[in-house]
Amino acid sequence: MENINWSGLPFGYLKTDYNVRCYYRDGKWGELEVTSSEIINIHMAATCLHYGQESFEGLKAFKGKDGKIRVFRMDENAKRMQSSARGIRMAEFPQEMFEEAVRKVVKLNKRFIPPYESGSALYIRPLLIGLGAQVGVQPANEYMFLVFVTPVGPYFKEGFKPTKVCILREYDRAAPHGTGTYKVGGNYAASLAAGTLANSKGYAAVLYLDPKEKKYLDECGPANFFGIKGNSYITPKSDSILPSITNKSLMQLAEDTGMTVERRPVPVEELADFDEAAECGTAAVIAPLSQIDDLDTNKSYTFTTDNKPGAICVKLYNKLRAIQYGDEPDPYGWVTVID
Ligand code: PLP
Ligand code: COI
Repeated sequence: MENINWSGLPFGYLKTDYNVRCYYRDGKWGELEVTSSEIINIHMAATCLHYGQESFEGLKAFKGKDGKIRVFRMDENAKRMQSSARGIRMAEFPQEMFEEAVRKVVKLNKRFIPPYESGSALYIRPLLIGLGAQVGVQPANEYMFLVFVTPVGPYFKEGFKPTKVCILREYDRAAPHGTGTYKVGGNYAASLAAGTLANSKGYAAVLYLDPKEKKYLDECGPANFFGIKGNSYITPKSDSILPSITNKSLMQLAEDTGMTVERRPVPVEELADFDEAAECGTAAVIAPLSQIDDLDTNKSYTFTTDNKPGAICVKLYNKLRAIQYGDEPDPYGWVTVID
């Protein structure tokens, strides 16, 4: 504990003291349970293992200069997990219980919340899995909700320094009317082949195109995409991407600074017109892009050459972080202070 290097944390798992669990049996959710075990003991025929009945979330808690602990937009994560549950026919976990579980797990692991100065945060990882045994392809009748926490640094090791991503048309992370809008494990399994290939070629991630026509931008493996053109914040509208809470927040902040927000299909060629481009998400925060290489057409789109993020990305990043850490007012009530 004493030797945690708070400002040099990777985005990885570090054991903390407690996790919180809840079981759905006989058609209803039980009470929240606290455990210090990192192990779950489940039936070998559980639907999460065979048929991918699994959804997860990601949110963060931040320690402010004032010492207060703030969790960002947990109501949105609770609702998105319910949408994912409906999407793959799992029992929905009630929003109030989700929020109570998050409060509890954060409080119980207070000593793992990185200090303000470190710029790191406590990553909160809720999980919902089908536990009931099924051999036929059917939803389970028993479920488990679990939430653990781990202190993390930036998702991309470069942090706020620009990275490169690539376009690879032979791979999709989700089907046109599939599960792309849900946060389910299968989408991430589907992204591993392309993701590891991209990493081996020196790219931080894959920028997926729409799976139907391969004409429009979708999103990156672990984050949404946005581009800046003049005074416009432009982000893809698509039926196969995850509705990112970070992106939704940035759209609001962009609008507040007088920018025009465009959420619409974005043709891949439009990358040539962008002044700035970035990935955004809870883990990624804003990860600016220096370059996007279209490996099928050999076209490259360059956004920065001096290895510095663009001015609008910097402004949005600072604004978002200031709200999350409590340095600036929170006009939309995005933050919950945990006492
Ligand atoms: N897109 C994908 C595929 C993700 O896994 C994530 C991470 O949660 C995001 C986008 C960003 O979403 P959020 O901003 O809600 O974290
Ligand atoms: C997040 O941003 O919270 C994510 O879940 C992204 C990734 C770690 C899958």
